Amino acid sequence: MGKRIRDSVSGFYSSAAAKPVKSLCCAANYSKEDVSHIPKDVLDISYGCGSPVALAEVKEGETLVDLGSGGGIDCFIAAKLVGRNGKVYGVDMTDEMLLKAKKASSKVALNLGYDIVQFKKGYLEEVPVEDEKADIITSNCVINLSPDKETVLKEIYRVLKHGGRFCISDIISETEVPEYMRADKKLWGECLSGAMKEDEFIKAARGAGFYGLQVLSKSIYRELEGIRFYSVTLRGYKFKKGKECVYAGHFAVYSGPFKAVCDDDGHEYPAGRPVEVCTDTVEKLKTAPYAGHFTIWDTEEGSVEEPAVCLPGKCC
Ligand SMILES: C[S@@+](CC[C@H](N)C(=O)[O-])C[C@H]1O[C@@H](n2cnc3c(N)ncnc32)[C@H](O)[C@@H]1O
Repeated sequence: MGKRIRDSVSGFYSSAAAKPVKSLCCAANYSKEDVSHIPKDVLDISYGCGSPVALAEVKEGETLVDLGSGGGIDCFIAAKLVGRNGKVYGVDMTDEMLLKAKKASSKVALNLGYDIVQFKKGYLEEVPVEDEKADIITSNCVINLSPDKETVLKEIYRVLKHGGRFCISDIISETEVPEYMRADKKLWGECLSGAMKEDEFIKAARGAGFYGLQVLSKSIYRELEGIRFYSVTLRGYKFKKGKECVYAGHFAVYSGPFKAVCDDDGHEYPAGRPVEVCTDTVEKLKTAPYAGHFTIWDTEEGSVEEPAVCLPGKCC
């Protein structure tokens, strides 16, 4: 079943690589500046549904892997942002797409003055990139096409570095897609039949081990037979926990503006109140997406001089 769907999707995109399909291109809102170095051939077969690279806060020198890279648009945008010391890999299963992307790659390298993009043939379910290689994984309107999304999310986790993030734009459906639509090959190719519901997507990402999940953008994509389909961009982080929880006198104080927040591990942080946390949580709260929302007190190192709030068990 999985192979049958992948073959059919690959056939669909093999034709869409050879002859641009206008109805597959949706407003991904690329800025002129982002795409000024990219050949028109690539822009004509841009079949994304969002701008994951623009929302990923890409930094110079980072390594980015784009899954289902198609003609390469997001890889080329990323190449400009990571600069000559960065690295970008595009992964796609369809030969015709890879051919177009590789052909455009030399023109992009000429325009940028450096060559850091590499395209690889492979599946999302078996990404041809080694463990913990990427700072960022992006994907633009592709995961809905996979028959095995759970494995794709596990692969994303495997390829990301500790502290790395994914930024994925994809189609989600408002309600369960009915069986007769799922059986429609054209609708699979058009990114509708394989769409998950938003809560399923988030649950699957959490199940694969990601935390700090956030929907960064959401807009209507299409409505078909009374079902609304949306384009969303979801971001999540990989954080590898230590083998055991070690408490070493650290307290986290949430600074607001909400009255209280709860993290992915179930810790509750009432605003302004110190909560004892383990060393893993200290590291996590000091980095994105939590950094800036907490003050960490290290009572063992004596960094707490005048606590603004009473420590548990301490009278003030
Ligand atoms: C909708 S197009 C998007 C292409 C590109 N991300 C863009 O924004 O233009 C989907 C792409 O994903 C690739 N693809 C779909 N399913 C895949 C899978 N399971 N493994 C690898 N590539 C896949 C297709 O070959 C196609 O190039």
